[in-house]
Amino acid sequence: MSNFKEQFSEYIKFTEGNLKKYNAHSDSMTAQKNLIDAMNYSLEAGGKRIRPVLVYAFCSALGGDYRKACAPAAAIEMIHTFSLIHDDLPAMDNDDFRRGKPSCHKAFGEAMAILAGDALSVLPFELIANAEELSSGQKVKIISCLARAVGREGMIGGQVIDMENEERSDVDEANLRNMYRHKTGQLIAVSCMMGCICAGADDKKIQAAADYGFKLGLAFQIIDDILDVTSTTEELGKPVGSDVEENKTTFVTLYGVEKAQEIANAVTDEALGCLEIFGSDGFLTELTETLLKRKN
Ligand code: IPE
Ligand code: IPE
Ligand code: MG
Ligand code: MG
Ligand code: MG
Repeated sequence: MSNFKEQFSEYIKFTEGNLKKYNAHSDSMTAQKNLIDAMNYSLEAGGKRIRPVLVYAFCSALGGDYRKACAPAAAIEMIHTFSLIHDDLPAMDNDDFRRGKPSCHKAFGEAMAILAGDALSVLPFELIANAEELSSGQKVKIISCLARAVGREGMIGGQVIDMENEERSDVDEANLRNMYRHKTGQLIAVSCMMGCICAGADDKKIQAAADYGFKLGLAFQIIDDILDVTSTTEELGKPVGSDVEENKTTFVTLYGVEKAQEIANAVTDEALGCLEIFGSDGFLTELTETLLKRKN
């Protein structure tokens, strides 16, 4: 356990140092100071950083040097942060707190929050294209799968289904599974895939990592639904009860907390099964189990 915790802290420390470095102020951008401040405000607010940790963990599980994955790891955390900034806007989930602080639009205004999200959606691709530690082939592969995981067929596509479901009263489990696969699963799956690509893995391993990521993402989002009704704003760092307020159908509204938890347990077991090809790596196994029991 302590080995797991130490490794986890090392990955987080490395991620946070890189985020600072990649979004530093510079003399040529004094006119964009507020934009960079707004981006850093949300990036530095904290968060569990599980997506960069997954990039590093898969790279390490395949025998790669995780430091070589610094650009994709920072990139996915930026994209995730962009998704949260936009998700909290009044036009979307209308939430005033995030990561224990006022949401980006509360601190900087709506227009700047939209622009900070926009900038955090494209800086990642610049970072990866400029990463000296990666080969051209690796960069193209990473950019291609990351762009796909973010866009129409990815997280943004999932957010569209989520928004449209607010107006529907016939949302069933199949719809939810599809929506979660997109809005949450895609960014988690691509994190696992990018770690594999950085380690030079073959397509079979990359696919197994994606399968694992989609299962982990589904369990992760079901737990998020449960915490929205069982936790507190202090513990979560974001408002509880937001799903009911926005008329969301979730695994909790469909089945209740207990059954939703049982489904999350079963999906987590399936995710663990996908790790066999990686020799059931100890760090990844412990991470998967820890995320099922998370309290925030
Ligand atoms: C929140 O993600 C949005 C979901 C996909 C449920 P996280 O729970 O990973 O948020 P942070 O990064 O820890 O703030
Ligand atoms: C998570 O959706 C997916 C994205 C933000 C893309 P939620 O709306 O459930 O996330 P939280 O609960 O606000 O963190
Ligand atoms: Mg949302
Ligand atoms: Mg939300
Ligand atoms: Mg939620």
